[in-house]
Parts: sequence; structure tokens; C-alpha cells
Amino acid sequence: MKENDRHKLRRKHTARGYKRSSHGILRALEVEDLPDILEWRKDPEILRYLDSYAPLSMHEHRRWFEGLQGDRTRSYFGIIAPDDGLAGVIWLKQIDWRVRKAEVGIYLGRMRAKGLGTEALRQLSRYAFDTLNLHKLWATVFAFNAPSQTLFERCGFLREGVLRDETFKEGRYHDVIRYGLLREEVLP
Ligand SMILES: CC(C)(COP(=O)(O)OP(=O)(O)OC[C@H]1O[C@@H](n2cnc3c(N)ncnc32)[C@H](O)[C@@H]1OP(=O)(O)O)[C@@H](O)C(=O)NCCC(=O)NCCS
Repeated sequence: MKENDRHKLRRKHTARGYKRSSHGILRALEVEDLPDILEWRKDPEILRYLDSYAPLSMHEHRRWFEGLQGDRTRSYFGIIAPDDGLAGVIWLKQIDWRVRKAEVGIYLGRMRAKGLGTEALRQLSRYAFDTLNLHKLWATVFAFNAPSQTLFERCGFLREGVLRDETFKEGRYHDVIRYGLLREEVLP
């Protein structure tokens, strides 16, 4: 990577509002978390930004959770707020163990715009590269989702391209931005 690009990344990493945390804020999801997660997965303010359309029942939601157990292509974590309660969910999916890449997704059910998303994404990236030995993380973000673009760019993800009219939401097509982060681009 060019020195200029590195400099830009470093600036994003130290942007306003970010507080480096010494403790982990990610943990495994538990059955007890399911009611909160179901509420968030029905919340229009979250659904707007995700590739999720149909309303979920608790039955389907439990099946989704059970399907995660032992699935080596998906890894979901709870994001813990400073009050120790669950605040959101972050995940790796489509984990490709041959190419060593995975898709990242995240949402917060509460405590948005307080730096929690940034901290969670940084911790998940470190886990993906340092523990799982992945080479690349990627994500897709709707073009109208400005906070999420800020989040990924601040965590060092680069824009790799724009997928034109890739999704249909709220009665019209929208572009989707593809982001990528390589292992060697993560700054200490
Ligand atoms: C995207 C999301 C996870 C970000 O988490 P978060 O904890 O709110 O993010 P952070 O506070 O760490 O950083 C977000 C940044 O975006 C900024 N932001 C907020 N609204 C913005 C806007 N309209 N335009 C540009 N930036 C914006 C915030 O101000 C903040 O930057 P700052 O700290 O310099 O002020 C959270 O907003 C969320 O759950 N959104 C709904 C679901 C979603 O969009 N998921 C991602 C799908 S790809």
C-alpha cells in the first residue's frame, strides 16, 4: 500500500469519537439473547439497512440460531454495551476457508453513534485476521447508508466498487458499495 493511502487510513482510525478500549466487547450469542435480537430484526430502522425483507417469527428465529451451531461458514457475536447488556450483533458469514475471506455484517439495536460499532468492527477484524488467519474481509453497504460507510472507512476498509442498482428497497433500486480490507492493511 502507498504511504499516502496509509496516512489516510491512519487519520480515519483516529477520527473524532473513537475511544480505544482495552477490554473485549464481543461475546458468543446465547439463547437468552434471542428475544432482543428478534425485536431488532423486526425493527424498520434496522431492516432498512439489511438484506432482510420478510417478517420473522420466533420459530424461524430459533431455527436460524440452531443452524448457526457447528456451521463453519458463519460466526455471530453479541456486542456488549458499557452497561454490560447486549447492544447489537456482528458477524462473519460466507467464510471461505480456501481463499481465506469472509463477509462482515453488523447492526446495533441501541447505543448508536457512540463509537460502539467502530470498536466492535475493529475487534472482529482482529479476531478474523489474528485468530482465524483470514486474508480478506469484505462488506456491502447500501449507498444511502452514510453512517455505515463512515464506520467501514474508519476501520480501514477501502471502497472496491459500486454495484449499480444492486438492491430494491422502499420502492426503488439503489446502488450498493462493496468494501474490502486486507490483513496487511490493519493498523496496530
Ligand atoms: C452502522 C452502525 C453499526 C454504526 O455503528 P455506530 O456505533 O452507530 O457507529 P460509530 O458511532 O462507531 O460511528 C458512526 C459514525 O458515522 C457518523 N454518522 C452518523 N450519521 C451520519 C451520516 N448521516 N453521514 C455520515 N456519517 C454519519 C457518526 O457521526 C459516527 O462518526 P463520528 O464518531 O465521527 O461522529 C449503526 O449505526 C447501525 O446499527 N445502523 C443500522 C444497521 C446498519 O446500517 N448496519 C450496517 C449494514 S451494512
